[in-house]
Amino acid sequence: MLYSINDVKNLFLEFFVQNQHKQIKNSSIVPENDESLLFINAGMTPIKKVFTGEQIPESNRMCNIQTCIRTNDIDSIGDMHHLSSFCMLGSWSIGDYFKEGAINFAYDFLINKLKLPKEKIYVTIFSGDSERKLPADTESEELWQKAGMPKNHILLRPFSDNFWRMGDGESPCGPCTEVFFDTENKSIKSYEESGFFDDKQRYIEIWNAGVFMQYLQHEDGSYTRLKTNSVDTGAGIERMTMVLNGLKNVYETQAYASIIQLLKNNSTSNKENSYRIISDHIRTSVYIINAGVEASNLKRGYVLRRLLRRAMRHLRAIGVEDEFLKTVVESTIDNLNECGLNPNWLFSKQQIVQKVLIEQEKFSKLLVSGLKTFNEFIASEQNIENGKLNSKLVFKLYDTFGFPFEITKELAEENNLSVDEAEFNVLLENHKELSKGKTGKVYKSGLADTSEQSVKLHTATHLLHYALKKVLGNHINQKGSNITSDRLRFDFNFERKMTEEEVRQVEELVNQVIEKEIPVVKEEMNLEDAKNSGAIGLFDNRYGDKVTVYTIGTYSKELCAGPHVNNTKELVKFKITKEESSSAGVRRIRAILQ
Ligand code: ALA
Repeated sequence: MLYSINDVKNLFLEFFVQNQHKQIKNSSIVPENDESLLFINAGMTPIKKVFTGEQIPESNRMCNIQTCIRTNDIDSIGDMHHLSSFCMLGSWSIGDYFKEGAINFAYDFLINKLKLPKEKIYVTIFSGDSERKLPADTESEELWQKAGMPKNHILLRPFSDNFWRMGDGESPCGPCTEVFFDTENKSIKSYEESGFFDDKQRYIEIWNAGVFMQYLQHEDGSYTRLKTNSVDTGAGIERMTMVLNGLKNVYETQAYASIIQLLKNNSTSNKENSYRIISDHIRTSVYIINAGVEASNLKRGYVLRRLLRRAMRHLRAIGVEDEFLKTVVESTIDNLNECGLNPNWLFSKQQIVQKVLIEQEKFSKLLVSGLKTFNEFIASEQNIENGKLNSKLVFKLYDTFGFPFEITKELAEENNLSVDEAEFNVLLENHKELSKGKTGKVYKSGLADTSEQSVKLHTATHLLHYALKKVLGNHINQKGSNITSDRLRFDFNFERKMTEEEVRQVEELVNQVIEKEIPVVKEEMNLEDAKNSGAIGLFDNRYGDKVTVYTIGTYSKELCAGPHVNNTKELVKFKITKEESSSAGVRRIRAILQ
């Protein structure tokens, strides 16, 4: 029996309604009164305040289906299960049942209601985090076993995988337990107890079956206990439909199949990856446009622009005429209606099509000339160094031809070339600063302002650079820096995620230098002398002949325009709040001073 999207929606909602959950309304994908979040990214975000006790819930048990947008996943589109927009089936207990109730519901729904084979189900639980003083969730491990899950199907995973929060800012949060399904992709070794668990191509997450909300994460990365314990769950309906129907990827489900077929029937070259990108991006664009967002170069508008422009370039790659975009948008809207995944329509089909065509009108000519220019760039050897396209040209494609970075990156990759996102971002930042300069607001060294706190964070950045080299190796170099009075953000070249121990060591090294109360010394010298003195920094022509070098004892010597504090003791205490990927081969650290 094949399950339609509607069947899966009904199965989930009926199950929870039968178990005394009230089905609540869903929300627009643009958060109300919350500029900190670009888009609703989980079913719980519109009702965040019921977890913190700031708002009274409609009921202590609730459920619904909520459209979510995850811009972080845009780079993964094309694989079997990531989507930039999806519909999340969610259920909540607000101060009602906790871990036992949630795990029993999850087991009952998956095994008894959906009749998914138990041997294909794996669950993950939180292994604890000593640094953050968060204990392992051994209780959930016992509860899963009690419910009937074999021990060798229960895995422990760290903070980065099994501790859920909305993002870096203030958020209710807690350890979570996730359900994975074995797609039996034979090219990947099957999981053996305590061995490697491939969560990308074989075991795919189908349900966050319980975020056990117990804490409130604060802006500075600290946690306090919430007044009540709550449960938040979320399952992407597209993935759930995929596994229930034994399909290989989400594009084979009713949510995408007809659009993929339409593209296939009309294309002159068979490019599955392009079909997936187009169908995903157009669907998300429809959702975003319907929420009232216009394509632009800023925030939500830029997400929309990037999605539409990338879809247009892939339409060209599969050899269809520009006019065909209209058909794809119309079919996407029809398909959303057929599946029951449509938002509450604020605009008519014609109005949405019209808005897409306005963006197409702006970009289609640029796309043709930009593609021509790209091919000219790569035909000349001088534009390529060690297989990498000159970043100034990548920027020119952005600035003159309106190519979002991803488009140039993809084109480069198709030609076995690479691009440097960090360098591109530096050029973009410089460009923005120059434009700001026209209105008299230029600050040096990636500082958004020259407040006392920003200056302190800037000095901390130099110490961080030193500590990273010490812990990870001398090959580490700065790839970007951005400082506001709340935090620093530092990008550097490194291939993998840092371990928690490495993060701790880096933090400790920085704090040691702070505690040693070292003066920060500023000197002016010739560029050559600076190079010979061993100072690090970007030795390109933007420095001029005379340069400033800042030295912090024997720890740090950097070419830098300043400003800095006079002594490291002014920094008091340094704390890393996040280590994450910035782009391929580039990691990003966020840190604060306490
Ligand atoms: N809020 C949880 C998630 O998005 C359920 O995974």
